[in-house]
Amino acid sequence: MSDHEVRLTVNGVPHTVRVPARRLLSDCLRHDLRLTGTHVGCEHGVCGACTVLVDGKPMRSCLLFAVTVDGASITTVEGCRAPDGGLGPVQQAFWDCHGLQCGFCTPGFITTITAFLQENPAPTEEEAREAIGGNLCRCTGYQNIVASVLRAAELMRSAPPPDPVSDPVSDPVDHELSFGVDGVSRDELHDQPSPGAGSRS
Ligand code: FES
Ligand code: FES
Repeated sequence: MSDHEVRLTVNGVPHTVRVPARRLLSDCLRHDLRLTGTHVGCEHGVCGACTVLVDGKPMRSCLLFAVTVDGASITTVEGCRAPDGGLGPVQQAFWDCHGLQCGFCTPGFITTITAFLQENPAPTEEEAREAIGGNLCRCTGYQNIVASVLRAAELMRSAPPPDPVSDPVSDPVDHELSFGVDGVSRDELHDQPSPGAGSRS
């Protein structure tokens, strides 16, 4: 199978990757660009763990082929951090409100909520619940995640952040990996334990 050149701007940094036509965006981010903050759970569009922002809109990266978003601007959970590299407002809110336990679902919530609050900076509790309705969490019971949405809204209103896609610490990199990482196949990569959410990845 021939590879295709795909250009993506990820968290403000331009990348060029060569990938097979069937490479999922989630795998491209995790394996080719080594941005492992994006987690893969169900891999068929149900759980929301893989949610990233594509041109500002939350999308399931496990349902997109990388070649279909050629030229797009992508924001992952790594791009939701503060400009100084610390916690961004949504991440800080999860910390403040104990919005995570194992953290596996958290990157998808962070990106989803980041996009939601840019559209609705002062949500009601009901709107906050609806906003996260497409993301599954097996640990928290959602109460603290809803509280985190409302807390993040407070933080963002009190100190509006710059564009969350900026990534001041990374340099542009050309990636020519055609498959896997360092000769490790995709299946082997999936068998490896997933790192934690957000800044813990
Ligand atoms: S891994 Fe993409 S929706 Fe579950
Ligand atoms: S914190 Fe464990 S799945 Fe959500």
